[in-house]
Amino acid sequence: MEKVYIETYGCQMNFADSDVIASILKGAGYGFCEAMEEADFILINTCAIRDNAEQRVRHRVRELRALQNKHPQLRIGVLGCMAERLQSRLMTEEENVSFVCGPDAYRRLPDLLSQVRSEVGGRRSEVELSTTETYADIEPVRLSGNGISAYISIMRGCQNYCAYCVVPYTRGRERSRDPETIVREARTLFEQGYREVTLLGQNVNSYRWNEESFTFPELMAKVAEVDPQLRVRFATSHPKDLSDSLLEVMAKYPNICRCIHLPVQSGSNRMLKLMNRKYTVEWYLDRVEAIHRYLPDCSITTDVIAGFSTETEEDHQATLELFRKVRYDYAYMFMYSLREGTYAWKHLDDDIPEEEKKRRLNEIIALQGEIALENNQKEVGREYEVLVEGESHRSKQQLFGRNSQNKVIVFDRGDAVAGSYRRVKVISCTAATLIGELVQ
Ligand code: 5AD
Ligand code: SF4
Repeated sequence: MEKVYIETYGCQMNFADSDVIASILKGAGYGFCEAMEEADFILINTCAIRDNAEQRVRHRVRELRALQNKHPQLRIGVLGCMAERLQSRLMTEEENVSFVCGPDAYRRLPDLLSQVRSEVGGRRSEVELSTTETYADIEPVRLSGNGISAYISIMRGCQNYCAYCVVPYTRGRERSRDPETIVREARTLFEQGYREVTLLGQNVNSYRWNEESFTFPELMAKVAEVDPQLRVRFATSHPKDLSDSLLEVMAKYPNICRCIHLPVQSGSNRMLKLMNRKYTVEWYLDRVEAIHRYLPDCSITTDVIAGFSTETEEDHQATLELFRKVRYDYAYMFMYSLREGTYAWKHLDDDIPEEEKKRRLNEIIALQGEIALENNQKEVGREYEVLVEGESHRSKQQLFGRNSQNKVIVFDRGDAVAGSYRRVKVISCTAATLIGELVQ
């Protein structure tokens, strides 16, 4: 049996895709290995969202040359967004890559692997995008899971065309997956002992099945009804589409987690317009207010970009101001990276110097660090139901889990076991972690 090693970079969707890939290859008779030295095929599932994500993969591919010299039968394939973006160019630029396969072509992988195996020096590329592929019928093989928390992909693609973003080009048009297969997957996971599922899509609020009739709030309700002991999360929401009806459904089901990831990207209306985000700061703040109204204990997290085209000091200050107003519990913060093929690449200058981007990013990071610490300090003394996930990285005597708000809580293990719900009281904190103790 030939063995495959899969390495995954990038977003949660890529990790979910790697499990679909594993399932397809398992069905075709391939085995998997944990050590890449034993592999006949190394598949690298990649991200193209920023240049540094691509550089990391290129570095990795070059590093693998030494292993290929030792094992001449080894074949390396690049999958995912970078494969889609660069297509066969990638095999010219990285000569030790034998094949590339885009996000909608994973069913072609068994053929691809056998072709590159049978032809010495053969190169293959499968990068066609689809308007219908959702891999709905494929039961993912959860290679890197913890047996407690799993991703379920509910839709693919994106057609919002934010000016800076390469995703609409690498993942194609938006399409939703049959809700029955989603609910079935959630139920099977629960029966297998999983206690948390995260429904994934680039913009889950535009999930739609049967034209208009079955939308995301209805899907959330169905998944929440699988079992009250199954926690349900979702990512990512586009602020322009975050509806009150979703918040109503969240309020109705206690097992839908009190955490909303709401990428803002910038706190300046001029930037939001240039980014083609289709909302204003006022709209965004109204959505934040609605979240607090329906779900008083909900945490809010975000993504933000520093130094987009023509961003002024005033625009940057507006982002800091917005951060002070919303007081996010967590933020993913990035420097703008110009991506080939996007609207910004065609029409806008990447005119903020690297040093200036870095300074603005560092200011946002520093502010967010203060806010996160202050938010966490307010948690001291509160009690939460925690889904225990496993041993803390720092000490074998401690376990960690998350509360509904997705905050990590570390505590002395006592009689708690992974996969169970326990009440934990917060006794201290850092900016990143809450420290607690079991409530007996
Ligand atoms: N440069 C920097 N950050 C980007 N993102 C998307 N495209 C870019 C880019 N070109 C960020 C956005 C998005 C997150 C997934 O990545 O903040 O929400
Ligand atoms: Fe990219 Fe915008 Fe789509 Fe998110 S919504 S994947 S940022 S184009």
